[in-house]
Amino acid sequence: MHWTSPESRSRSLYERARQIFPGANTRQQIWMSPYPPYLSSGRGSWVTDVDGHRYLDLTGNLGVLIHGHAHPLVNAAIANQLEHGTCFALPTEAELKLGGLLCGRVPGFERLRFTNTGSEAVAVALRAARAFTGRSRIARIEGVYHGSDDLAAVGTDSSPDNWGTDPASTPRYPGMPAAILDQVMVLPANDLPSTERLLGSAGSSLAAVLVDPAPLRCGFTPLRSDYLTLLRDLSRRTGALLIFDEVIAFRLGFSGAQGRFGIDPDLTALGKIIGGGMPIGAVAGREDVMAVFGNELEPARVPASGTFTANPISMVAGEAAMSLLDSAAFEHLEQLGNAVRERVASIIHAAAVPAQVTGVGSLFCIHPHDREIHDYRSYHRSEVEMDIIGRLHRSLLEQRVLLTPNGSGFLATVMREQDFQALFDALPRALSEAFREVLNRSS
Ligand SMILES: Cc1ncc(COP(=O)(O)O)c(C=O)c1O
Repeated sequence: MHWTSPESRSRSLYERARQIFPGANTRQQIWMSPYPPYLSSGRGSWVTDVDGHRYLDLTGNLGVLIHGHAHPLVNAAIANQLEHGTCFALPTEAELKLGGLLCGRVPGFERLRFTNTGSEAVAVALRAARAFTGRSRIARIEGVYHGSDDLAAVGTDSSPDNWGTDPASTPRYPGMPAAILDQVMVLPANDLPSTERLLGSAGSSLAAVLVDPAPLRCGFTPLRSDYLTLLRDLSRRTGALLIFDEVIAFRLGFSGAQGRFGIDPDLTALGKIIGGGMPIGAVAGREDVMAVFGNELEPARVPASGTFTANPISMVAGEAAMSLLDSAAFEHLEQLGNAVRERVASIIHAAAVPAQVTGVGSLFCIHPHDREIHDYRSYHRSEVEMDIIGRLHRSLLEQRVLLTPNGSGFLATVMREQDFQALFDALPRALSEAFREVLNRSS
């Protein structure tokens, strides 16, 4: 039964949710109108809804599940740990194993601290930068999503209404204190002269430059390498720390995005894949900077702790997942990504609609326009384009293919090229339904 049918099980769960949650949901990013199908299970590349329909899942819970759902080795690690307890108020060896594995992969990870989410990792990294430099302001790139921390969220909601020559420090919600907005300088991605001017004008007030090297809101198009180099050089020159947000981008290589792009940030925020499907985050980086969390010689200048931090369930799941991610796994992901992007591009071409696909490694994003994407403004979708991507997403879902509502996809090691046939078969109809008005107008 269709999930929107009044008799469906999804419908009855939605009706219950309306009595419990504002807007019937407790996770806005994945919500869709009038309500989504509710899921009951997932295995490998597939998920099943409560009415028994199977979908090809290209979201992997927004980039978390790099080995797909319910991977047997990750499950076995979790099941084994369950027998021994789920969380303790003293450290366990499990945290050393995952922490050691991560530090062993990335030369710049001299020390590491776990958190519970990517948002918390970004927040803690910014706090560390402030404590280390004794400065309070930060710079970040326009439109990029860095999670829910207030400071990191300024400038995320840039839109044509506030597009001046320089990006504005836009609030994330009404009433966001001006004192927080004042603390954030927003930079235009890939614009070297403006970024040089803006960072130059900030002088010695900046604690950190926060950057995701391949942001979703630039279509997972990596930032230009001369731009990343400029950020590295300018942050060094001004005495600010360079923080990479690799909450998603860590999946771009064995040594993360920094290994792939050859940049050495001072600190890195991690999340998603490193927890093997369980909640996690981490901050890693230079030993002298990480000393703000305390060491044998000095007490912590930045408190960083949480009831569930380094809980052994997340640690063992993460260790199992990360151990599976060897060079062969990255090569496989790279091949899958290239194959999917190439085939989607040819389907878009054949459909003769103004769409495009972008991305890198195991990431891809379908766009409801064909402008060249080099920053947030060229990525940004008008109301008409939002409507088009909404219809594309909905049509794919009707055909049992799950992308994120903004048209992005995350590939997993368990996928094989034949798994994508469901996407390739569904896409022509989805494009024609999404672009119906545009196509009608031009015929
Ligand atoms: C680049 C980036 N940074 C930070 C976050 C926040 O991570 P979390 O949702 O685990 O708090 C996200 C989440 O999608 C992200 O994509």
